[in-house]
Amino acid sequence: MKIALIGLGTTGKIVAEFLVKEQALSVVLCRKNSPDAGKDLSEILHRPYMAVPVETIDNLEETLVKYKPDVLIDFSSPSFLRENLTTLARCNVNVVTAVTGYTQMDIKRAKVLARKQKFGVVFAPNITRGVNVMLLMAQIAAILQPDYDFQVIDENHRNKKDSPSGTAEKIATAIMKGLGKRSDEDELVPIHSIRAGDITGRHKVLACGLYDQIEITHTAFSRKAYAEGAYKAACFILGKTGLYEMKDVYGLGNYTCAKERFGDATELPLSNAYA
Ligand SMILES: NC(=O)c1ccc[n+]([C@@H]2O[C@H](COP(=O)([O-])OP(=O)(O)OC[C@H]3O[C@@H](n4cnc5c(N)ncnc54)[C@H](OP(=O)(O)O)[C@@H]3O)[C@@H](O)[C@H]2O)c1
Repeated sequence: MKIALIGLGTTGKIVAEFLVKEQALSVVLCRKNSPDAGKDLSEILHRPYMAVPVETIDNLEETLVKYKPDVLIDFSSPSFLRENLTTLARCNVNVVTAVTGYTQMDIKRAKVLARKQKFGVVFAPNITRGVNVMLLMAQIAAILQPDYDFQVIDENHRNKKDSPSGTAEKIATAIMKGLGKRSDEDELVPIHSIRAGDITGRHKVLACGLYDQIEITHTAFSRKAYAEGAYKAACFILGKTGLYEMKDVYGLGNYTCAKERFGDATELPLSNAYA
């Protein structure tokens, strides 16, 4: 499999190293005026020669035709996909986007395009398996303890642009579903965001009763967790069409948090923003 990567920032650099080790990275893309343009990736990562060119996106179609990647992994910002999704579809390049901060409109547009143009996209604002398991756990806690006060705490590094994180929003949505509430009608689960130092990523659910509390925490020790998730998603989307989430990549899509299992007859399918 040949992979193109866009976004050589805090996370993208770690992802690039991981993909080089997997011998899967054929080209890195950057902005038109980026100082990285025209270099070999090794110069940016201060490593021995890698034979991975860094090309600008100003002539994206030509670059994709030249390097023929099967999948593009995106660790840039929402504007990249907004501006270039049609080009990627036209060039038959499937996409894994780990970027956060997309609107529901962005996701709908990608869904329509994926169907029309028969290409594949994974939206992965929560890229690690651990966070996806945590989503299930949070929803189960909400089903079992609906009278508790639920809050989400999102801790990330000081340069993270979006606040709250996409993962925190997903956790809050899973809790809302567990509580049988609708995000357009009911009061939302509060999210508290901390942006400090180089915290790699920590998400916590607090479920507080009058006499005790439950805490569910996921901590990423290393950005390699994101790289591994992105590579798994790229392997998954290779040759597929349609829109997917990481729970599909990890085979967690069939798990439903059914209230009937816990004594209530209502089945609550897991949150699926793209269904
Ligand atoms: N899903 C997950 O679990 C997960 C984990 C980690 C990060 N993320 C997400 O991944 C994204 C990147 O995170 P980060 O911390 O690595 O950010 P970062 O350090 O700011 O790096 C972003 C990189 O993308 C480039 N970029 C941004 N917009 C671009 C565009 N329109 N065209 C071309 N290049 C563009 C930037 O280039 P310039 O320097 O030239 O602007 C920079 O190299 C964020 O959305 C973050 O939330 C998700």
